[in-house]
Amino acid sequence: MNIAELFSLRGRRALVTGSGQGLGLRFARGLAAAGASIVLNDLDRARLDAAVAALRAEGIDAHGVLFNVARPEEVRPAIEQFEREHGSIDILVNNAGIHRYAALVDMTPTQWQEVLDVNLTGAFVVGQAVARDMIARRRGKIINICSLMSAATRPTTGNYTAAKGGLKSLTQSMAVEWGPHGVQANGIGPGYILSDMTKHLAAEPEFDAWVKSRTPAGRWGTPDDLVGAAIFLAAPASDFVNGHVLYVDGGWLAAL
Ligand SMILES: NC(=O)c1ccc[n+]([C@@H]2O[C@H](COP(=O)([O-])OP(=O)(O)OC[C@H]3O[C@@H](n4cnc5c(N)ncnc54)[C@H](O)[C@@H]3O)[C@@H](O)[C@H]2O)c1
Repeated sequence: MNIAELFSLRGRRALVTGSGQGLGLRFARGLAAAGASIVLNDLDRARLDAAVAALRAEGIDAHGVLFNVARPEEVRPAIEQFEREHGSIDILVNNAGIHRYAALVDMTPTQWQEVLDVNLTGAFVVGQAVARDMIARRRGKIINICSLMSAATRPTTGNYTAAKGGLKSLTQSMAVEWGPHGVQANGIGPGYILSDMTKHLAAEPEFDAWVKSRTPAGRWGTPDDLVGAAIFLAAPASDFVNGHVLYVDGGWLAAL
């Protein structure tokens, strides 16, 4: 196999959840640049339609599927209908995620549950819906977007940390149960990346300085920093990599 084929996604179809904006949309553009056709997803119809139109204007073969990953009753029918009409999903990026910041002592059950439902249960529900077909075809790649908080935490993120830690464990379960059927499931653990989710943090001078001094790379990450990891984990190059979380964090987790 030559190097270009190792990293080629030609002939593959990739579904990226929560990809109407932010990292998900960047993952979609990156996978498309490696040859994949793209299925965007979001729960916000206007955002989804605008993102599909933007990709098509760039010459990318893109479709949009509207569902809330936290609603199993929406997910299964939407994915089944898409696969019936357009064909199978070869690559799934479980990217949809939310934050609800609160100290544990003040956190409401709703704040806890919303974050668990989207960031963890959503990945299980969409993963299961897509994996049934992958298992039958004995081929598939699942990439779960984890976090530094799959491995460490800071105050006010107890719900998110529990969800992302669980997502790392779910990645291992997917790898163990679906690996024998030709499916690889891995995670990407982004460090602090500039996006809509983090712009309020980057705007706080103290937090911004903390990120830059705490990260060996000395800077925030950008969505572009994550693309290579996604292509690798979606491509034949990673066919013997399974159950792993690849942290793309500028060295954060290596440093005391
Ligand atoms: N930005 C960072 O620094 C960072 C760091 C580590 C991990 N992450 C993870 O990366 C992923 C993407 O983050 P982002 O910064 O691009 O976030 P973002 O808030 O900019 O975008 C998230 C997108 O997901 C959609 N979405 C939210 N809930 C959904 C649901 N239930 N169903 C379908 N779509 C839904 C939103 O409408 C939005 O378009 C998340 O899982 C996040 O936890 C981000």
